[in-house]
Amino acid sequence: MTSYTVSELLSKDIKLVEVSVKGWVRTFRANRFLALNDGSSLQNIQCVIDFKNTEDAVLKRLTTGAAVHIKGDLVASQGKGQAVEINVNSIDVLGDSDPETYPIQPKKHSFEFLRENAHLRTRTNTFSAIMRLRSALSFAVHKYFNENGFYYMHAPIITGSDAEGAGEMFKVSKLNAKNPPLDENGAIDYSKDFFGKETNLTVSGQLEAETYAMSLGKVYTFGPTFRAENSNTSRHLSEFWMIEPEIAFLDLAGNMDLAEDFMKYVLNYILKNNREDLEFLENRLIAEDKSKPEAERNTMGLIEKLHFVIENNFKRVSYTEAIDILKNSKPNKKKKFKYPITEWGIDLQSEHERFLVEKHFKCPVIIFDYPANIKAFYMRLNDDGKTVRAMDILFPGIGEMIGGSQREERLEVLQQRMAELHIDEKELWWYLDLRKYGTAVHSGFGLGFERLVMFVTGMSNIRDVIPFPRTPQNAEF
Ligand code: 4AD
Ligand code: MG
Repeated sequence: MTSYTVSELLSKDIKLVEVSVKGWVRTFRANRFLALNDGSSLQNIQCVIDFKNTEDAVLKRLTTGAAVHIKGDLVASQGKGQAVEINVNSIDVLGDSDPETYPIQPKKHSFEFLRENAHLRTRTNTFSAIMRLRSALSFAVHKYFNENGFYYMHAPIITGSDAEGAGEMFKVSKLNAKNPPLDENGAIDYSKDFFGKETNLTVSGQLEAETYAMSLGKVYTFGPTFRAENSNTSRHLSEFWMIEPEIAFLDLAGNMDLAEDFMKYVLNYILKNNREDLEFLENRLIAEDKSKPEAERNTMGLIEKLHFVIENNFKRVSYTEAIDILKNSKPNKKKKFKYPITEWGIDLQSEHERFLVEKHFKCPVIIFDYPANIKAFYMRLNDDGKTVRAMDILFPGIGEMIGGSQREERLEVLQQRMAELHIDEKELWWYLDLRKYGTAVHSGFGLGFERLVMFVTGMSNIRDVIPFPRTPQNAEF
């Protein structure tokens, strides 16, 4: 007897004698029809039970959430909506599920409720679809870089540096140490707790990736990163995954081309390979839209939106042009932004970014050449002496999807910038070495993986696209 997944069984149009399949009960009705799901597909396989020849004690245990092992014959289905079903010959309950307490009932649960049950929420169609898409997206990311001659680099998680210079790090400390370092008052000094050194969880693998780009040429990282900013928004996490390519001998224009090509590739991959899950999530959004006022509804279906991004060029505008557009715009009925654009040099707020992407250009937008004083220390200074070769890529419904730049490759300019920002050269001596020995133009960017998953799944809260979200309010599980 051969074991199959539900997905394999559903793709078979032949009759098979005695197949074996394991999974979890979604529903059991009329003491006869058991819908079985094993995570391999959105679809359940219908298992038809001969209740007259099955003990009552067993039938009672076929409750939603129970794990079962079914053996039977795969036959053409009599019912609508499925080609095949299993005529059950034997059923083994592997793990019971108490119907009184099992949280995931076959009904609509709110996302808030499911977040509280993050350990069980992938037993629903919506979350299993999201997490299958998340898995496929990460595969597509590796596939793209592999096909384009990049090496995958593992950047460290524990580091002594603050890559973004924003001071938003989580410190690493050793708990319950027998001989913890003490400060002058005799209290535990957690700051120097990594064997006498001060360390933190990485905010970005970029600086380490730069060292590899300057020897291996084209590299990328894809790993967890941590931000201690107290941002309670639907787009921020304390722990998120970031994809960071870094390329030697590439300038900002080449960096934009790479980012656009990469985004289109991964979206195309998903359209080709994950149709069923996409269609399911698209229908979910259509149903959700029906209960919303006209103005708040999605103007494009999920699949149409992915096609639109793939088929249209991203719009490229300088920060200065963007500021001019914003100054002369009337964003809403009040004709005002909450944070009015008062002068050149201010940082863009998410309302400005959303206006540019969703109302003005209506497509992904790359904003480049930002004022130096609102961007990180490592960005290449332009000849005007006041802007840097930075780029942010903004997406409809998301805002900032990607942040990147051409890096400052000139030793003296970088040293001066670090001095202005009071960044100690001793902390980044190895980073400066790259500018002393064989320096060259190089560029890279960072893509927030969860924001990509949000865009592809149409989910509006970042907490719903990562298995166990860590936010300032929540580190359960
Ligand atoms: O713009 P950021 O801070 O850029 C960097 O970290 C650079 N070192 C990247 C590079 O050039 N290699 O972050 C990059 C992206 C953002 O555009 C956003 O998509 C995502 O990471 N991101 C977050 N995602 C979720 N939660 C947060 N708190 C995030 N902060 C940034
Ligand atoms: Mg950024």
